[in-house]
Amino acid sequence: MEKEVVLSGIRPTGFLHLGNYFGAMRNYVRMQDDYTCYFFVANWHSLTTHPDTRQLQESVHRVIAENVACGLDPDKVALYIQSDVPEIAELYLYLNMLAYKGELEKTVTFKEKVRLQPDNVNAGLLTYPVLQAADILIHRAVKVPVGKDQEQHLEMARNFAERFNYRYGDVFPLPYAFNYHSELVRIMSLDGNGKMSKSENQMATLYLADDDDSIRKKIMKAKTDAGPAMPNAEKPDYIQNLFTMMHLVSAQSTIQKFEDDFNASSAGNVVIRYGDMKKQLAEDMANFIKPIREKAADIQADTTRLSRIIRQGAEKARANADATLQLVRKTMNMNY
Ligand code: TYM
Repeated sequence: MEKEVVLSGIRPTGFLHLGNYFGAMRNYVRMQDDYTCYFFVANWHSLTTHPDTRQLQESVHRVIAENVACGLDPDKVALYIQSDVPEIAELYLYLNMLAYKGELEKTVTFKEKVRLQPDNVNAGLLTYPVLQAADILIHRAVKVPVGKDQEQHLEMARNFAERFNYRYGDVFPLPYAFNYHSELVRIMSLDGNGKMSKSENQMATLYLADDDDSIRKKIMKAKTDAGPAMPNAEKPDYIQNLFTMMHLVSAQSTIQKFEDDFNASSAGNVVIRYGDMKKQLAEDMANFIKPIREKAADIQADTTRLSRIIRQGAEKARANADATLQLVRKTMNMNY
């Protein structure tokens, strides 16, 4: 039986962080043995918000190196750069004719970007979800491992695929957001303000390139409060986030201890010590990030190895993208 196709991408707009790892890359690594996988660096997408390309090459190389350092094997998957696969741009053009201005303007990420960069509301920003759909559909991918923030983009990709299939003929399977656990992951910023992100508040973001001391400092500064007011209280978002991170990097017995302390606490009898919890989390996190940071730095310094990975990835991705594009053209009666 043919293996199902998996695809996902990461924008090279800054250093990769814990949200990228647990929302996306951890799943990539688990999926590489069981699926036909395409993972790529979305450098065209990054131009919608980061038009200055002076740092771009270094960032692209770092994203490739960090993916390999996290366990992706370039011999098992196609690990490539978006702009090395021009077939995506042609599919993007066709899909643009099936995407409506009204629905694009209503996209949550578009509205957010309009607020953040009112002086640069470019057409690429508006059609961002169309390019993302082209990324996915060019490989006729079904499972798309992403974090929670990408859910709406996936829904739009399904709509565009359905419209294409209805108008021209069945070419695309319908893709959906994938995570091994039932819920998609969302790692919050350490200051409790929104999701952890590459380019906002760096002191509240844990990067895969952070050294042990920065990790400790950032976690010790993470937002907490005076403790729960009653036993078995619901956890506020920022406390839940500390537990979420602990679940990702700490031993089960450690997590259980702090869960029990939290549940036993009430106003006037606070058993849980957030200072101790953060200290433990900082140590476990530093131990988790260190090998990734060191391996990524080695790979990034090895330019010969990097170019080989990039070339090999582009070849695999183009071969498959071309096959889809031939089918698309034929279905649209555009094969002259
Ligand atoms: P990007 O570059 O913002 O993020 C890369 C991946 O990391 C996940 N992620 C998070 N997960 C949990 N918690 C967080 N705080 C967090 N921050 C980021 C994202 O969900 C994503 O999976 N539009 C995409 C890039 C893209 C793409 C695609 C993805 C372009 N084309 C095709 C999938 C398929 C983006 O901006 O991801």
